[in-house]
Amino acid sequence: MTNVAVIGTGYVGLVTGVVLSEIGHTVTCIDIDEKKVEMMKQGKSPIYEPGLDELLVKNISKNRLYFTTNHKEAFANSEIVLIAVGTPQSESGAADLQYIKQAAKDIAHNVTNDTVVVVKSTVPIGTNDLVENIIQENLVANVKVDVVSNPEFLREGHAIHDTFHGDRIAIGAESKEAGDKVEELFAPLNVPIVRTNRRSAEMIKYAANAFLAVKISYINQIANLCEQLGADVDAVADGIGMDHRIGRAFLNAGLGYGGSCFPKDTEALAYLARENEVDLSIVEAAILANHRQSEMFTKKIIDKFQGNIEGKTLAILGVAFKPNTDDIREAPSLKIISSLLKQGAKVKVFDPVVKDLGYINPSIEYCDSVSDCITDVDATLLVTEWQEFIDCDWEALIKYPKVPLLLDGRNALSIERLSIFGWDIDRIGIVP
Ligand code: UGA
Repeated sequence: MTNVAVIGTGYVGLVTGVVLSEIGHTVTCIDIDEKKVEMMKQGKSPIYEPGLDELLVKNISKNRLYFTTNHKEAFANSEIVLIAVGTPQSESGAADLQYIKQAAKDIAHNVTNDTVVVVKSTVPIGTNDLVENIIQENLVANVKVDVVSNPEFLREGHAIHDTFHGDRIAIGAESKEAGDKVEELFAPLNVPIVRTNRRSAEMIKYAANAFLAVKISYINQIANLCEQLGADVDAVADGIGMDHRIGRAFLNAGLGYGGSCFPKDTEALAYLARENEVDLSIVEAAILANHRQSEMFTKKIIDKFQGNIEGKTLAILGVAFKPNTDDIREAPSLKIISSLLKQGAKVKVFDPVVKDLGYINPSIEYCDSVSDCITDVDATLLVTEWQEFIDCDWEALIKYPKVPLLLDGRNALSIERLSIFGWDIDRIGIVP
């Protein structure tokens, strides 16, 4: 078993650190945020992720999982150092590499034994070379450091499951020995391994996320056409998805993709293509279609009120960018709520986990339950498909709103069932 240090305790770093400790490695996670480190030492996860708290507590108690703000302490015995810091979008669309560069310097200044550095963060093609150069230029001790690309494919809300049951682990290494060491690290997971060079591994990550984003934008545009032509996008997705060359996954039409990955990664890949004068218009089109998708939903609501929603009260069910997460980064709900407020509507919000949207607008009314949220409203908008909403007793709920108009932005509810209870329900890509 290996001594591992992980830099950064966001989704990727924390989940990977916890899972590596669960399969027997000794892991020290480093973060600059002291409050966060104290919290994790107590076995409390700073993010909402099903199953994470249990594994945190278990592995801390087995003395396999540690947290610190001190790089020297974390690197003292480590053979492998994982970089899992954020690569946010900068103004140009390119990934901002300041945290990656800092991590490389921290490694160079503090490692005291031969180390394999594993870059887990999503980084533009060529960044592993940059990390290697920064480390070599700043290295203090006389030790050997190899850099290996190992992008992450976990989904928020399913992060633990995805790490244990991934479709593949991509390892991009220039040194066979370093690549083998990373392969050994993950061997207990029994997940298929793809071995390649560093640039290809970096590209696998971006190309996979962009492909999934294209798939979502494609089905959303087909949905909009279905709506005009009287076809049912869910049946269409089932029908095309049964072709194993296409597959049914990521063909759920809705409000477009959000979150911390697809929006930023598609932008970063499009930026790389522009910079290298390569046509990647398919990804550019997916980005544009995604922006338009939530705008179309807002327009649909406004059209229901003959173009004027001023003074109307609207219930928003769900604000997280998808179910089972408290993440609202790039969530379609944010754009929809802003736009409804701008048009003069009053907005009531309920999400099972997210209790505050922060900056948006002090006039938003936060509710404690679905019934509270839909009481006396002119329309109800399902924006995040939390299971709790799907399982609601919609028959009992019909008495709460002023108008039983329900716009399902995620095609999560059954038109047939809800219509029987008296709901006037509208979905994406299906003529009601
Ligand atoms: C995504 C990828 O699925 C992961 O493989 C990847 O590791 C991760 O990004 C990352 O780069 O870190 P995540 O953003 O957590 O994971 O969430 P997804 O479950 O992929 O959903 C992304 C967005 O697409 C959500 O807004 C979701 O509502 C939307 N979506 C997904 C659809 O609109 N339709 C679908 O059929 C599927």
